[in-house]
Amino acid sequence: MALWGGRFTQGPDQRFKDYNDSLKFDYRMALEDIEGSICWADAIYKAGVLTEQENKDLKKALAELHDEVSKDIDSIATAGDEDIHSYVERRLIEKVGNLGKKLHTGRSRNDQVALDLKLWCHKAVDDVLKALVHLQKELVKVADENQGKIFPGYTHLQRAQPVTFTHWVLAYAQMFERDYQRLLNAKELMSTCPLGSAALAGTAYNIDRDELARSLGFKCATRNSLDGVSDRDHVMELLSCASISMVHLSRLAEDLIIYNSGEAKFVELSDKVTSGSSLMPQKKNPDALELIRGKCGRVVGALTGMLVTTKALPLAYDKDLQEDKERLFDAIDTWHDSLYMASLVFEGIKLNEQNAIDAAKGGYSNATELADYLVSKGIPFREAHSIVGRVVLYAISKQKALEDLTVAEYKEFSEVVGDDVYPILQLDSILAKRDIIGGVAPRQSAIEIENLKKVLATREG
Ligand code: ARG
Repeated sequence: MALWGGRFTQGPDQRFKDYNDSLKFDYRMALEDIEGSICWADAIYKAGVLTEQENKDLKKALAELHDEVSKDIDSIATAGDEDIHSYVERRLIEKVGNLGKKLHTGRSRNDQVALDLKLWCHKAVDDVLKALVHLQKELVKVADENQGKIFPGYTHLQRAQPVTFTHWVLAYAQMFERDYQRLLNAKELMSTCPLGSAALAGTAYNIDRDELARSLGFKCATRNSLDGVSDRDHVMELLSCASISMVHLSRLAEDLIIYNSGEAKFVELSDKVTSGSSLMPQKKNPDALELIRGKCGRVVGALTGMLVTTKALPLAYDKDLQEDKERLFDAIDTWHDSLYMASLVFEGIKLNEQNAIDAAKGGYSNATELADYLVSKGIPFREAHSIVGRVVLYAISKQKALEDLTVAEYKEFSEVVGDDVYPILQLDSILAKRDIIGGVAPRQSAIEIENLKKVLATREG
């Protein structure tokens, strides 16, 4: 049953119907549509449209439908109605007859769909927040278990300075903390209720929209009906939050793919998140991480698509806006699942300590220490930098590490070098020295781990 048809003399072409109908994807908003309808029944009862009994009967039938539908939401997809709003209305009429036809008084599918999608976004945000917390907790656990373990640090993918595995893990914990805060901000900003905006000009019935908004869990009602039905900022914003977070996940995946490679072997991924080759029996491929990296493109594509769909769209509602849902649903599912997949990767990760130490020692990653040492002996940093550069060149030619050069060899480059140079070239001392907020010193990581644990203990996930 279509929600329109009076002014038409012909039915729609089946090909148009297939192209136009959105039930196959917007069925996912079934519960939200019913929840909105229950509050709408109350609102129009208060406006004098329904009697007390009618309101009761409608709400009872809607609550029943809510129960029925929640048992198997997916089966709605193929029910044949134009969209989820038509589906709910049909089912309601099947239950309460003509009374069901009164519910749409003063409401349009334009404000209805805007409401349903916002409600869906609110629930989606809560689910993703939990997934973020779950991953953060896993990261903090791994960071905690590996405290003090040395790891090579890179810039330009060249060995730069030693860090710890914990410090590297905690870098990502920071990124996901920002994603968490960003999502909370987005949730706050989308807490205005479009219901009552009707088709575009606002409902003609006497409804307290702020009260209606609060009954649906929003802070207040939207302040302009044209904007109310056409605003999809929350979709773009969620897609933008998702994209930024997927970029974080993708960088994490890329780092781990490198660290797990045969060339590096700093970490080993568990069998649970890797797969084999059909041809090469020795292979163990980091598929979970590659998929996370690959799916980032899909989510960023959803954001780009949504921005382009909305660009130059005239006010107020246009059917183009129906294109907001599939990509949003897909992007949120992808983001959510990728967060859990990243958690799973960390659950089974193994650090190959010795390989990491060997790599951290190589590549002259203690050269900056030597420069600082010269500075402590009164040599200006620029000059110290140049002296160390020449020392490194010399050490490369001798195939020696800096700590293996003799004092006599050092004296060829600078008179000030003495026996006290050796302790400062040790990895542990390099780490311990960087004992400032955010620095790599294990003492700092321990503080940071405690801070994060406290915050995360207050969150669900
Ligand atoms: N399926 C539509 C959507 O997703 C619902 C709103 C339809 N409104 C209309 N005026 N045809 O946007």
